[in-house]
Order: sequence, then C-alpha cells, then structure tokens
Amino acid sequence: MNIPLIKPYIDQEIKQRVFDVLDSGYLTEGPVTKEFEQKFASYIGCRNAIAVTSCTTGLEMALRVLNIGQGDEVIVPDYTYPATASVIPIVGASAIIVDVSKDNMIIDYDAIEQAITKKTKAIIPVSAFGNPLDFDRLNEIKRKHNLYIIEDAAPSVGAEFKGIKVGNLADITVFSFHPRKFITTGEGGMITTNNDKWANWLNSYKHFGMDMSGTSREGIKFEIIGTNYKLSNILSAIGLGQLTKIDKLLQQRKDLAKNYIKLLEKESTIKLPITTNHGIHSYQSFIVYHPNRDTIMNRMRKEGIEVQIGTYALHMHKAFNNNPLVKIIGNMENSQWCYDHALTLPLFYDLTNEQQELIVQEIIKSE
Ligand SMILES: Cc1ncc(COP(=O)(O)O)c(C=O)c1O
Repeated sequence: MNIPLIKPYIDQEIKQRVFDVLDSGYLTEGPVTKEFEQKFASYIGCRNAIAVTSCTTGLEMALRVLNIGQGDEVIVPDYTYPATASVIPIVGASAIIVDVSKDNMIIDYDAIEQAITKKTKAIIPVSAFGNPLDFDRLNEIKRKHNLYIIEDAAPSVGAEFKGIKVGNLADITVFSFHPRKFITTGEGGMITTNNDKWANWLNSYKHFGMDMSGTSREGIKFEIIGTNYKLSNILSAIGLGQLTKIDKLLQQRKDLAKNYIKLLEKESTIKLPITTNHGIHSYQSFIVYHPNRDTIMNRMRKEGIEVQIGTYALHMHKAFNNNPLVKIIGNMENSQWCYDHALTLPLFYDLTNEQQELIVQEIIKSE
C-alpha cells in the first residue's frame, strides 16, 4: 500500500499558466500576482488581499501594520505551528501562550480573557486545521478589551462562520499556501483585511516601502522602511489556477471528510474533534483522536499509509519555554493531550472511498 498524506492538485491547465509566465519573461511579482490577489479577495468577499511569501511573513506584517512591538503582549494558543507565536518576539513584543480546548484544538476563549493585561494589544487565534473560530466569542472579547484580532488562518481557505468566509471575520487574516494546504503555491501566503489604510501599508511594506500610487519608475517614492515579501508571478500562476477550481476542490474534501466520519463514527475508541457551532470546516487536515496514537501511527506508516501527528505543543520547545519574550500561562494540559492523541489521516483530491476504507480498517485493526 502506498497512500500519501497529501497530494497537491496540479493539472495541465495550471502547468500551462506557469509556462505562460515563463514565456512572458515577467517572473517577479506582477500582473498575475495582482489577478491572484483580486480573485482571492473576491472569493473571500473582502476588500483587500495582499499576496506574500508565506503565512509567517504575513503574520509578522500584520503585527507591524498594527504597530505592535516592544512592551506589547499578544495572546496565542499553545497547540499550533510555531510560526503563530514566533512572529511576536520577531517584532519585539511578548507572546503570551494559553491552552486550547480538547474539543476542537482551538484556543480556549476563557483562557484568553484570563491572560489579558493592560499590555495586551492583540490575539492571534488559529482556525485549527480548517475549523472556523467562534467570532461571537472573539468579538465579545475584542470589544470588551479593545484588542485586535489577527486570525492565523493558515489552513482555513474556504471555512466559514455563520455564512461569512474566514478572511472576512478578523481585523486581519493570514492564509498559507504551503503544500499541506489544498490551495498551494509551494511557498506563499495571503493577507486579507477590510481596512484600506492597512492594506496600502502592507502592500508598500512588501515592496521595499514604495509608495504604490507612483506611475513611473523615476517618480517612485520610498515612504517607509520596507522589505521584499512579494509573491512572484510564477507562484501566483499556480495559486490562480487552483483558485479557479476551488469550489470543486473544497467540495471533494468535504465529501471525503464526511465519508471518514461515516466510517469512523461507530468506533468507540476513536473520537473526532467537534466542528465549531454555526461553522463550516474546510478540512485542511482530517484529524482523529486515538488513545494509542503513537502505536497506531507507527503501524500505519509501516503499512505504507502516510499519517502524521496534528501539530506542535509550543510549551515543549526551548524556543518558547526558555525565552524572556514568551510567557506560558497555565499547565497546557489540553494542548499536551492534543499533542499526544491527534492523528492526521490522508486527505487529497483523488483519495478514493476504497482507500479510505483501507485506512480505517488499518486504524481499527491495530487497536
Ligand atoms: C497554523 C499555522 N500557522 C502558520 C503556518 C506557517 O505557514 P507558512 O509555511 O506559509 O509560513 C502554518 C504552516 O503549516 C500553520 O499550520
């Protein structure tokens, strides 16, 4: 058996888009990136989308545009990919790490409230694995404490809360196009916001601080200190090609997830994370909780089924548990539990129902 964890969707039409860019000779960021940004914003239904080199650089830019730095605190979940928290010390602010809920691996909303101080400027919650955040709870906290919400939506293109797409819910949202995500440019990311002033700053910052309203090269003015976080036309062509098929690709994932749920729901040892109330999950990853996760994971790998842990528990790592700019609040009991029990199953566009049955049989067999 050889079933991979993921497979990026690359068809002939997407390859042709890349060849067209190569033939054009216009390889840097340019008109294809612009089109990718415009079509992405229109898919999400938001005012602005800014393509960047990764979700990580996008999160860093989000903190910078909000003027968050030395002396400020930003609250993040413990159970996440390190990038969610790393960007905070990168801009000189303090990362305040709190626990998640076992139900869904999402930041514990009560723990956020308990961690808020006078220095708290923002929260970076993660819509974990494509499960949308409860923006009723988050907006209540935001209003009460006057905070910004930057959503780390690395895995959540296509997810929704109360009929609104992720990307149109937080002050600033950042997506990833890493190949584990179903819209992938290899490396890449997208920032979305409805605030035009922030969007202009972000666009300028990734273009070396250029005033982007300039028309001629000699007339360009550099207004702020910026950097180069642009996404090339080549990578944007891949993203654009996938974006035109997003409804189909997303529906395939939802159907496959539904089939996994059907196959697994009678297995009493296996628990499934709960989808947020009023939410639509985009299933970047299909995760199950298993009491003997490591044994099962190793056996499945030996059988040729590529399975993976969920993600990392930051408190276990020196970068976070031994850093003057990081504070861990609480014992991270739930995050540790998720780290020990979550198992990611294969999920990609042409996974068959027969393969899903084999995968499920293998989980059950190895119990
Ligand atoms: C929750 C989360 N945040 C951030 C990142 C980093 O994304 P990128 O590789 O695009 O920088 C990832 C990547 O897997 C992620 O899962």
